[in-house]
Order: sequence, then structure tokens, then C-alpha cells
Amino acid sequence: MIRIDGKEVSKAIREKIKSEVAELGFSPGLGVVLVGDDPASQVYVRNKFKACETVGMTSFETKLPADVSPADLKKAIEDLNNNPEVHGFLVQLPLPKGFDTDEVLSWVDPKKDADGLTIENIGLFHAGQPRSIPCTPHGVIKMIKHYDFAIEGKNAVVIGRSQIVGWPMARLLMNENATVTVCHSRTQDLKSFTKQADIVVVAAGKPEFVDQSFFKEDTVVLDVGIHRKEGNGLVGDVKTEGCEGHLAGLSPVPGGVGPMTITMLLENTLRLARASH
Ligand SMILES: NC(=O)c1ccc[n+]([C@@H]2O[C@H](COP(=O)([O-])OP(=O)(O)OC[C@H]3O[C@@H](n4cnc5c(N)ncnc54)[C@H](OP(=O)(O)O)[C@@H]3O)[C@@H](O)[C@H]2O)c1
Repeated sequence: MIRIDGKEVSKAIREKIKSEVAELGFSPGLGVVLVGDDPASQVYVRNKFKACETVGMTSFETKLPADVSPADLKKAIEDLNNNPEVHGFLVQLPLPKGFDTDEVLSWVDPKKDADGLTIENIGLFHAGQPRSIPCTPHGVIKMIKHYDFAIEGKNAVVIGRSQIVGWPMARLLMNENATVTVCHSRTQDLKSFTKQADIVVVAAGKPEFVDQSFFKEDTVVLDVGIHRKEGNGLVGDVKTEGCEGHLAGLSPVPGGVGPMTITMLLENTLRLARASH
């Protein structure tokens, strides 16, 4: 079984981004708005900024307390919309309870929407004219391709249909000419679908929720889930026991889809920076 190593794939792509940034003649700026003090979000933001540094991008952090008023949050977003040094930014999700995420995202200038989550960019993406490509599913496609697993003509199953992962994942797999089935919480007999699949992307957000028995031999499995274990460490949505020797490939958690998500955020920022000049 091939370990679909997101760190390895990221390294290669970040090198390429770094040299493209060096040729630009200016440093693309990535902003992050962090509301509240959720420890996991703080780690994600730190990792995004570290990644920026490695490719020569400049980061801009806007930290706000969990009880910030919607008006002040809107003002902070507008400041980033108007800052010419910021080419792309995102609002770190999830927002603390009480915020209307859709409304907050509607304040982001789509031309600076590094996550691709504004209505305009979702529309452009699904219309086949992407401005920003949703980072996690984009990373998954790059990982499958990096290891030369075929997508065209294959049966692909996506578990999960969220706006941020499952739904755009299905679209990107279709763009690569896979035959795609999307499963979700109301799917009956999930295993009957995954057992037919050559590629399975698991994004249900449930720790170790599927195991080897869900897959036929030589399936390629991408595990998007990420969960903190009791005590220490991280697990994904896939129980890895028994997968070795059964699957053709599996992305680990940690070190799989996570690093690729950040790398694709850098790629979106570069794309937005280019488009702004
Ligand atoms: N590694 C990364 O960079 C990265 C990035 C983003 C997300 N994640 C992780 O990926 C996971 C999914 O994220 P998300 O934002 O897409 O989560 P989400 O919004 O909670 O969506 C979960 C999806 O899974 C489906 N689902 C839930 N239980 C199911 C079941 N028993 N059988 C089949 N489908 C089921 C849900 O179906 P319904 O639509 O019917 O409710 C929903 O569509 C989470 O663990 C998240 O932390 C990781």
C-alpha cells in the first residue's frame, strides 16, 4: 500500500510556488481573521503563517475577541478588502457560536476570497471558471495525481457533501472524468457504495468511522477527517488497522490531507495576487 504523503506532495508544490513568487516582483499577502481563542484554530492559523514564510508570502493576522460585535468584525473584513498589500484572506472557521457564517462570508470581497467560500466564487467554481478552488478537495486531487493513481473512468465515492469539502470534491473528481457517487448521513447501506469504488474520499467528520471492510482490494482512500484523540495525537475518519496489504493507497492522519489544504491556500493566494496586478 502506498502511503499518500501530503507533506511530500506539499514540499514539491511549495517549491514551485516559491519560485513563482520570486518571479512576481512583489510579495503576495495572505490575511487571516481569527475570532476567539479556540486552540485548534490558533494552531491552524500559525501553520498557515509558517507556510507563507516558506514561500515568500507576507501574512496579516487580524485577531478579534469571541464577543466582537458583528459591526466590528465587518469593519475588520472591510479593512482587509481595502488593504492593497493583502491579495487574499480568509475568516478562520468555525466562528464562535452566535455568528451567522454565511453573512460574515458575504462581507469578503470575492476577488480576495482565498478559501473560495463566497457565493460568487462557489458559483464560478461550479460553472467551471474557478477564481479560487476549494483548498481541501483541490489538495486531494493533487495527491491522487502525484502518486499516478488513475482518476479518469474510475468509480469514485465521496462520503460527505459539505460546501467546503464533499460537494466541491465531487465536482473536481467529475472534472477529472471519474464517475462520482456522493454519500451522506441519509445514505442507506454506505458499504454497498464504497465496496464498488476505486477511489474513496472520506469526509464524514467521524473518528475511525470506516475500516478496511468498507473497501474492495486496491482501492485508493483519501482520509480528510481530523480528530483529536483522547489524551494525545490525531486520528482520521478511517480506521487504518488492516488497510496495509489491502488498499492501493491511503493518506495518513496527520501528514495527509492537512498539509495539502494549506499548500492549496498558498496556491489560491498566488492566483489572486496575479489577478490583482
Ligand atoms: N484536513 C483538512 O485540511 C480538513 C479540512 C476541512 C475539513 N476537515 C475535516 O474533514 C471532516 C469533514 O469536514 P466537513 O467540514 O466536510 O464536515 P461537515 O460539514 O460536518 O460534513 C460532514 C458530512 O459527512 C456526512 N456524514 C455524516 N455522518 C455520516 C454517515 N454516518 N454516513 C455518511 N455520511 C455522513 C454529512 O452528511 P449530511 O450532509 O447528511 O449531514 C455531511 O455531509 C472533519 O473531520 C473536518 O475536521 C479536514
